[in-house]
Amino acid sequence: MIRTPYLNSIVSRETLEKINKYCDFLIKYNKKLNLISKNSEVNIMSRHIEDSAQLLKYIDTKDKNILDIGSGAGFPGIVMELIKNDLNLKFNLEIVEKSPKKCTYLQELCKYLQIDVAIHNYDVKDLKNNRFDVIASRAFKPMLTFLNILEESAINFRKILLLKGENYQLEMNEAKKYWEINCDMHESVTNPTSKVFVINSVKRI
Ligand SMILES: C[S@@+](CC[C@H](N)C(=O)[O-])C[C@H]1O[C@@H](n2cnc3c(N)ncnc32)[C@H](O)[C@@H]1O
Repeated sequence: MIRTPYLNSIVSRETLEKINKYCDFLIKYNKKLNLISKNSEVNIMSRHIEDSAQLLKYIDTKDKNILDIGSGAGFPGIVMELIKNDLNLKFNLEIVEKSPKKCTYLQELCKYLQIDVAIHNYDVKDLKNNRFDVIASRAFKPMLTFLNILEESAINFRKILLLKGENYQLEMNEAKKYWEINCDMHESVTNPTSKVFVINSVKRI
């Protein structure tokens, strides 16, 4: 079983076992579906699992429903779902993912891990439910495109959590030309060049 100091500090042994089962399942499917880059398979814990898990720092007990947009392999949503009980969080997770193959994989994964997640095989623009406490997303679209998509989808939210890589400043500058963004930016625990954005509100300029 792979162990890491950060995960060890927040999760039970039982959860860590489930996370390891998740990683094995993902790597098996990765051969067919290209869910994550092959090079990142050896660093799956820090590169993908811990990266996703850190979003739980910004969830509180008021957050009852979370939408993960463009989850792909299950990041960040499935990781958050697996760990939530260890942190006494009680949210329901929904995922919207437009690839049918990835949705089949996600459904089989949830069955295998015995977790209850609503998986919608839609383009996010066609999502029926549009009211969520939290939108969480990773490696989905640049920030400007992301905010434009949310507007087009008429999705309401209290908070957006975004994991952003080294181009975060360029993305932010571009988005701020069109949107007033009220947000906090936090250091990533997995990568010194990445940031976690907690967006509390946005308004089109
Ligand atoms: C680069 S992958 C990122 C996957 C995952 N979030 C991660 O961090 O590894 C982007 C995902 O978004 C999905 N996607 C792209 N456009 C979408 C849309 N309009 N609605 C829903 N899902 C979409 C793709 O199928 C893909 O699985």
